[in-house]
Amino acid sequence: MSIAIYPGSFDPVTTGHVNLIERASKIFDHVIVCVLINSGKKTPLFSIDERVNMLECVTEGFHNVSVRYYDGLLVDFAKQEEANIIVRGLREMSDFDVELQMAQGNKAASGGTLETVFLPTDPNYSFVSSTMIREFANYHHICREFVPDIVADRLEEKVKSK
Ligand code: PNS
Repeated sequence: MSIAIYPGSFDPVTTGHVNLIERASKIFDHVIVCVLINSGKKTPLFSIDERVNMLECVTEGFHNVSVRYYDGLLVDFAKQEEANIIVRGLREMSDFDVELQMAQGNKAASGGTLETVFLPTDPNYSFVSSTMIREFANYHHICREFVPDIVADRLEEKVKSK
C-alpha cells in the first residue's frame, strides 16, 4: 500500500493545494495531508486547529485522504506513519532550489528511505500562494477565486476581527 504525505503550512489551504491533493489521491492509495510548522514563517494568520479544520472540510469528499498535524520533523512523522513518499507541488523554477534541498535533506535524514515526488502545479494556480492570499486579506481583499468557499468565509471573519 502506498502512503504519501502532503506536508505544508496551509495558512490557509488554497485551491491550488486542493487540486494537488485530488491528483495525489488518484496516484497513491492513501494521502495524509499534514500541517507542519515552517520555522521561516513566523506570523501565521490561522491557528493550527483552524488550518486543520479547513483542510478537513475541503477534503471530506476524498475517501483516501486524511488530515493531521505534527509538531516536529517531517521525517519523524513519516516514520511514525510508515510512509515513504512525500508529495510537493512545484509552481515555478524558483521553487525548485528550496524543494530539492528539502527533498535531499529529508531523504538523508531518513536513512535513504523517504522519497519526494514533485507534481507540477496546475497552470491555473501557478501564481497562487497562501502568502499572497494572506497579504491580500490583510488589506481586506478576499481572493475568493483562489480559495475554497469555506476558506474565503473564514478569511473574511478573520480580517474583520483584526
Ligand atoms: O507550505 P510550506 O510552508 O512550504 O511547507 C514547508 C514545510 C512545513 C513542509 C517544512 O517547513 C517542514 O517540513 N517543516 C517541518 C520541520 C522539518 O521537517 N524541517 C526539515 C525540512 S525543511
